[in-house]
Amino acid sequence: MRRTIIAGNWKMNKTITEALDLVRGLSMELKDVKDVDVVICPVFTALYSVSHEIEGSNIKLGAQNLFWEEKGAFTGEISAQMLKDANCDYVLIGHSERRNIFKETNEYVNRKLKAALKAELLPIVCVGERLEERQKNETFDVIRNHVTGALEGLSADDLKDIIIAYEPVWAIGTGQVATPEQAQEVHAFIRKLIADNFGSEVAEKLRIQYGGSVKPDNIKILIAQPDIDGALVGGAALKAESFLGIIKGCL
Ligand code: PGA
Repeated sequence: MRRTIIAGNWKMNKTITEALDLVRGLSMELKDVKDVDVVICPVFTALYSVSHEIEGSNIKLGAQNLFWEEKGAFTGEISAQMLKDANCDYVLIGHSERRNIFKETNEYVNRKLKAALKAELLPIVCVGERLEERQKNETFDVIRNHVTGALEGLSADDLKDIIIAYEPVWAIGTGQVATPEQAQEVHAFIRKLIADNFGSEVAEKLRIQYGGSVKPDNIKILIAQPDIDGALVGGAALKAESFLGIIKGCL
């Protein structure tokens, strides 16, 4: 059985004070939740303070990005070791906003992924097609390209620490969630791709999250799909009530 994992991607939102307020509400409410892995990904500046606030709780900390070099002249970047130093366990890699706004390529995603694994951070690798790609029936080509590009050069053993998030770009922040059938179809495709490349045992263990307009009122039907193992949540992760509603919808 794969453990459900719900991660909140806060994107570029919340000051340190606001982050701490949200986290206090969450950790109290989640103290008896044992069956779902809960991760929050605040902005870099809030990571360290939040890490202390969640100490001893069921919530784990993740960052939203990293750079693959360890240190040096890379103005504005942050390394995997620095995220570990701020008490992160997880890191998002290749979010569609990174790919589309900041022009991150598969090669970037692959290098970041390797850096995260080397530092023993658990990567959540995001993949997903844009609306025009879906309309042109290119969804599976895009997903194959994102998945194989991200995982190039990795071993079956590396895969045990990786989570994949399927996030159709047209569903992110739009309120237009993928239907459970649309999401399941792509999740099954990803699992098959992993089975073909790394073996069926690895594929069976791989956790694949769905992301894109997940809300308390649609999580139940999504999580009921056989290949959906959790959610990566944007907007609804910014308020305790809706994030808790999503987590509780998985219990
Ligand atoms: P959303 O964002 O839940 O606001 O659609 C999801 C994401 O970008 O990870």
